[in-house]
Amino acid sequence: MSDLLDERTQALIAEFRQRYGAEPTAVASGPGRVNLIGEHTDYNDGFVLPVAIQRDVRYVFRPRTDRLVRIFSMEFGESYEFDLDNLAYNDAMLWTNYVMGVAWSLAEQGLTLTGIDAVMSGNVPRGSGLSSSAALEVSTAQAFLAASGLLGVLDGPTIARVAQRAENEFVGVNCGIMDQFISVLGAENHALLIDCRSLTYELVPMPRDAALVIGNTRASRSLASSAYNERRQECETGVALLRTALPAITALRDVTSAELEQHRDLLPAVVYQRCRHVVSENERVGQMVAALRAGDLVQAGELMNASHESLRVDYAVSSPALDAMVAAMRSVPGCYGARLTGAGFGGCAVALVAPGREKAVADAIFEHYPKATNIWPEVYMTHVSNGAQVVKLEEAK
Ligand code: GLA
Repeated sequence: MSDLLDERTQALIAEFRQRYGAEPTAVASGPGRVNLIGEHTDYNDGFVLPVAIQRDVRYVFRPRTDRLVRIFSMEFGESYEFDLDNLAYNDAMLWTNYVMGVAWSLAEQGLTLTGIDAVMSGNVPRGSGLSSSAALEVSTAQAFLAASGLLGVLDGPTIARVAQRAENEFVGVNCGIMDQFISVLGAENHALLIDCRSLTYELVPMPRDAALVIGNTRASRSLASSAYNERRQECETGVALLRTALPAITALRDVTSAELEQHRDLLPAVVYQRCRHVVSENERVGQMVAALRAGDLVQAGELMNASHESLRVDYAVSSPALDAMVAAMRSVPGCYGARLTGAGFGGCAVALVAPGREKAVADAIFEHYPKATNIWPEVYMTHVSNGAQVVKLEEAK
């Protein structure tokens, strides 16, 4: 039996029956993610190595015969409805814009969707760098595809791009492809090496003697979106300047560390630093894959520490709260390494730890982090989970 048919789904089904007086026909999910390494590389055509986590956005739904979409959110206690023939961004519709955006993006693929009645729920912490938006987009895409009899029509990477396009063009947030990709294609006990240029991917088994602890700084991320766009711009400037010496490059993905050093005089100091992070981070992803395959967790942890340092110093996207979080994690014997994960400026850090040491790491976070920041954190322990799923429910008799 699918692990999707748990108590949470039962609660959604009960709500669905009460609200719509019918049985839902299927359940769809899209998980959040934590990125092990490869940060701020996806929009540079580079490499990333995320895992899907045991937190998701989930729908129970039933197709309608018309083009109406009705959705109730358990957490927000709100319901919204919209017409598939009239999709326009609407401030008053809050999170429903993501849902409309996915419907719009699927239609842009030439697909004809049917309306749905739905109840949804999410337990990916919102605005914390664990990709609650991607989880919402991907579960929405799965629900619409399943309800419309279109499951299997789009392959996984295309679903990820459809979800990303919804966020970029409908909602207006400039994210890369990583979050949606792992939410669609994640696999239990595996990290996913994604080539963000070709959108090819490879599963990398997680060593059995590795566990993950995620620490949520719960610090404000008000800087995140403006700084994110600024970093992207700095990378583009770097590429434009480096092209005067390296005409074949189209993204920082194409530049080696040796080339960057050779041509550093072409770049303003800050742009050089941003490029150095991206170029070195891409190299670390390859080294991380080798370390995980070899079961060398000490090396894997050192790479995570080096990634954090590069993000802190060269890319300047860490924060005192994130630095305090990784320091607390690393203070525990059995923690191999820790780094900020996601865009930065708050949000979460991830630690690679020896199994059995998760609680000690959590205790250290609760002991040291609030003293350093005056903020009470949250800690999540997670297995590496599967990507998006759809499970049919039995029709009511
Ligand atoms: C956010 C974006 C991703 C990626 C990361 C940084 O999570 O949504 O596409 O760019 O930041 O690695």
